[in-house]
Amino acid sequence: MTNVLELSGVQKRYDAVVAVDALDLSLRSGEFLTLLGPSGSGKTTTLMMVAGLQQPDAGTITLNGASVAKLPPYRRDIGMVFQHYALFPHMTVRRNVAFPLEMRGVSKTEALRLVDEALQLVGLPDHGDRLPKQLSGGQQQRVALARAMVYRPALLLMDEPLGALDRKLREQLQLEIKRVHQERGISVLYVTHDQEEALTMSDRIAVFNQGRIEQIGSPEELYDRPATRFVAGFIGDTNFLSGKVLAVSDGRCEIETPAGRLQARATQGLLVGASASVAVRPERVVPAASAALRGTITDVIFLGTSRKYVVRLKDGTECVVLRPANEAALGARGSEVELGWAPAHATAFRDG
Ligand SMILES: Nc1ncnc2c1ncn2[C@@H]1O[C@H](COP(=O)(O)OP(=O)(O)OP(=O)(O)O)[C@@H](O)[C@H]1O
Ligand SMILES: [Mg+2]
Repeated sequence: MTNVLELSGVQKRYDAVVAVDALDLSLRSGEFLTLLGPSGSGKTTTLMMVAGLQQPDAGTITLNGASVAKLPPYRRDIGMVFQHYALFPHMTVRRNVAFPLEMRGVSKTEALRLVDEALQLVGLPDHGDRLPKQLSGGQQQRVALARAMVYRPALLLMDEPLGALDRKLREQLQLEIKRVHQERGISVLYVTHDQEEALTMSDRIAVFNQGRIEQIGSPEELYDRPATRFVAGFIGDTNFLSGKVLAVSDGRCEIETPAGRLQARATQGLLVGASASVAVRPERVVPAASAALRGTITDVIFLGTSRKYVVRLKDGTECVVLRPANEAALGARGSEVELGWAPAHATAFRDG
């Protein structure tokens, strides 16, 4: 498969701050890849270097196999959408969307046709004559999307494009962006710090932490098989139980905790005798007869499709359990329960 974009050993410093550190990343043709990470982890800096709005201190960036080092932003075949609508306020929607085509010397009639098509695609076919201020926030963001795509760039960069919108509108536009991505077969590099948004939209997610990628993979891989404790904690809800490593073999391990002896997938760096944490998702914890863990239910919360139980284990740690509401209840508040999970559903990480 061909890669649209490749970053190799890319680094960017701002004085003492290493914003992006020895970054390797490739985007496959037609892929929707999301950079997910906490504030300040280097996501925007990465996008700016790809766009040509910042220069890397080291490393190479290639677009469709050719280095972009000497290409100014407007010569890179890239469309961009930012968090805050960057429409020209004095131009109509139609002229805003036509602008990149004018810059590229596309003929008037061809431009009209492409603009109409782009406005149709984002669901605003009748809004061409309005000014940006006559549109809602969500509509303005759709115009920004139409403008970024109208000249059919090889690559679309989006930096928190839905960050300023309310939840309902955000969810609606997430689906629209996905649809546009699929219909156009466009490659997308997307930035968000919202893990749900990343899970919903992406073919693959790169989890950023302090200028580095902790793990890159499909949403399922990151959720079910996190490679680091940071990834396990950043995506989805997780219980962490700490203890000492008893044994490691064949990618599995056994961890002795004050609450019981636990089985889990092993990750790199686990040493027998050293401290480790076991991460397990609340929905992976099940009632079990030959149970590893015993505890007392201290809270039951009805969530509609599921029930959430807070269980206090015998050493005082809390473990959250999520069971479908149509399943028999785990127990009432105050009752004793025995819990377990399939070893493949938990992951152990080295501490420190
Ligand atoms: N122009 C700049 N000058 C100095 N430092 C900067 C500059 N831009 C970014 N930084 C620093 O580089 C690091 C990475 O910033 P970046 O904007 O890439 O983070 P981010 O992952 O996009 O965060 P957010 O989710 O808050 O947008 C941060 O420590 C930030 O303070
Ligand atoms: Mg940012």
